[in-house]
Amino acid sequence: MKRTLFAISIILILMSCNNQPKPAEEPDTTTNRTWWKEAVIYQIYPRSFKDTNGDGVGDLKGIIEKLDYIQSLGVNMVWLNPIYGSPNDDNGYDISDYRAIMEEFGTMEDFDAMLKGMHDRGIKFVMDVVVNHSSDEHEWFKQSRSSRDNPYRDYYHWWPAERGKPNYRWSYFDEKGEAWMYDSTTNAYYLHYFSRKQPDLNWENPKVRQEVYDIMKFWAEKGVDGFRLDAFQFVSKDTTFPKLPEGYEKEVIKYYGMGPNLHDYLKEMNREVLSQYNVFAVSEGAGSTFEDAHNLVDAGRNELQMAYHFEGVDLCNSLEGYELADFKEVHSRWDSAFAQEGWLSIFLANHDVARLVSRYGNDKPQFRAPSSKMLNTFILSMRGTPYCYYGDELGMTNIGFDSIEQYRDIAAINGYKKTVNSGGDVEHFLKTLKFLSRDNGRTPMQWDGSENAGFTTGTPWLPVNPNYTTINVKAQEGDPNSCLSYFRKMVKLRKDNPVLVYGDYELVRPEHEQVYAYTRTLGDVKMLVLLNFSDEAAGIELPEGTATDEVLINNYDAVETAGLAVNLKPYQAVVYALK
Ligand code: GLC
Ligand code: CA
Repeated sequence: MKRTLFAISIILILMSCNNQPKPAEEPDTTTNRTWWKEAVIYQIYPRSFKDTNGDGVGDLKGIIEKLDYIQSLGVNMVWLNPIYGSPNDDNGYDISDYRAIMEEFGTMEDFDAMLKGMHDRGIKFVMDVVVNHSSDEHEWFKQSRSSRDNPYRDYYHWWPAERGKPNYRWSYFDEKGEAWMYDSTTNAYYLHYFSRKQPDLNWENPKVRQEVYDIMKFWAEKGVDGFRLDAFQFVSKDTTFPKLPEGYEKEVIKYYGMGPNLHDYLKEMNREVLSQYNVFAVSEGAGSTFEDAHNLVDAGRNELQMAYHFEGVDLCNSLEGYELADFKEVHSRWDSAFAQEGWLSIFLANHDVARLVSRYGNDKPQFRAPSSKMLNTFILSMRGTPYCYYGDELGMTNIGFDSIEQYRDIAAINGYKKTVNSGGDVEHFLKTLKFLSRDNGRTPMQWDGSENAGFTTGTPWLPVNPNYTTINVKAQEGDPNSCLSYFRKMVKLRKDNPVLVYGDYELVRPEHEQVYAYTRTLGDVKMLVLLNFSDEAAGIELPEGTATDEVLINNYDAVETAGLAVNLKPYQAVVYALK
């Protein structure tokens, strides 16, 4: 199953492209500055970006077609959700071939052309690496399940049934909520933290780890610039699978994450792969404490470069929404814990949550544009590497499905089954899903006002949000006041001003109930960010000595000030240079 890297390197040399291994670029040790800290990442859900062959599914050729658009945003890195061979139980997060491109998405030639197209435009590329689990249709698993003495048996976690039922493990997507699945072929249970078709790989087996590093090298040799390690905090497990203590479900990450050997594995991965190329790696998840997070990313540890924690994005996980006070508290706490050492990501949306503006802003017609601009101002003015999710530059909104038949996401479908089977409150479940489902964040990109928003000439795999007739790229392109124009301006502001990347962060008027205000300071450059998170006007009295100089960006035409008093309109966002 292993392919020789040798053959691949020869081909690469013959093609004389610039994808050969490069020594890792060390951060500047005097300033700690480096390219992946200065990146603005644009995340694309490939299924939903642009379809070129009319099958209703976005493809790599579609991304190639839109490279100029991506470049025009000013972003300089793209992360694509998985594009490998996959039966699509979880839309590509169930991989059956780590060295192939999913047929629906195109071919390896398309991939090479896409990567070259990005590099030609100065855009780096991040590959999603899903190795906590594979697909049950991966050859490894087919072998593994076939007999107890198969050489691949230990690639996965098996529990022989004659030992009795294994201790309960919770599963994210299982329709019964159980992570152990009985398999009669060998009279044993296998472990799956996600769906039944996503068996967990056994990282305790050195062969599995070597396979993973070989796969990562395969892509690094092709020239990818970064890796996003999916569900990575779960890879190392206590394989005795002890009984979980009571109340574990309130602290799932504590019991499931940061297993005993995780750091050894990361150091090994760093030695074998990351340090050998000019790449960075970010892990999904950062454990359950600051210490966990620091241990993943601090420079001296030689593990990863970046992590993302969920506290920020998890704030709004119910129909009640969230409180600004909590939002400020979470982001300030994480910032201060990483002010001296380590590096984090900043994001409020991705393919696992509902739309940015519907969840954290206000998608009512009169507030949609200002609140979406305000949230993008936040993401692009905080310390950490910002991740912007496709469509959020337009202020795309939740679609809000009413019936379970409309959903495509396994989390929604199996969550529904679980609720029905356990006699739960189905009505409440559907209402919550309508607001929070992952499918809200996965509807097709809205390119123009033509049928299906210009996404496909066929039937889209997930319906296009009907508001595409007014919210689309074409309509916003020519409008200097559009969300899109504002987004480009804000990205440029960040890229032109290292203070927004590296500067110290300090809260201003922390107790203010409507306004999130903070300064960023680097040397003698200082900026003030004012964000009104409410649908009403908000006055804020700036502290003595806060002499505003120039308005650098504003999502309204003007800002009302009188001395140190600033009166913000609903969802107004202003960034000032301070004297
Ligand atoms: C991560 C991904 C999510 C996926 C899951 C299983 O959380 O972001 O989309 O369903 O892992 O791979
Ligand atoms: Ca297609």
